[in-house]
Amino acid sequence: TYVVTENCIKCKYMDCVEVCPVDCFYEGENMLVINPDECIDCGVCEPECPAEAIKPDTEPELDAWLALNAQYATQWPNVTAKREPPADAKDWDGIAGKKAQFSP
Ligand code: SF4
Ligand code: F3S
Repeated sequence: TYVVTENCIKCKYMDCVEVCPVDCFYEGENMLVINPDECIDCGVCEPECPAEAIKPDTEPELDAWLALNAQYATQWPNVTAKREPPADAKDWDGIAGKKAQFSP
């Protein structure tokens, strides 16, 4: 499966949702997640994210993010249409420690 990771927080560009063939993105207040039970591993979303926040779960250090994706995919609403990103998205792109800004 692919996983949405920390740099999505407060960037939330939403380019990813438009390309997913199985519509498996779910939307929180300031981040999206992928439902690992629905993702078919096609990989098309990874290069679409301007924040490079989407990674394959083959990277072992992403286990905590995989767990977060799995948890919130069952709680948040499905999202399939891109909207405007936050006005300050660019200011947050690449900022370290954004996990502290996560809004469940
Ligand atoms: Fe959707 Fe493919 Fe990305 Fe999985 S890898 S979330 S199926 S676009
Ligand atoms: Fe987040 Fe990137 Fe999608 S910033 S909303 S994973 S395009």
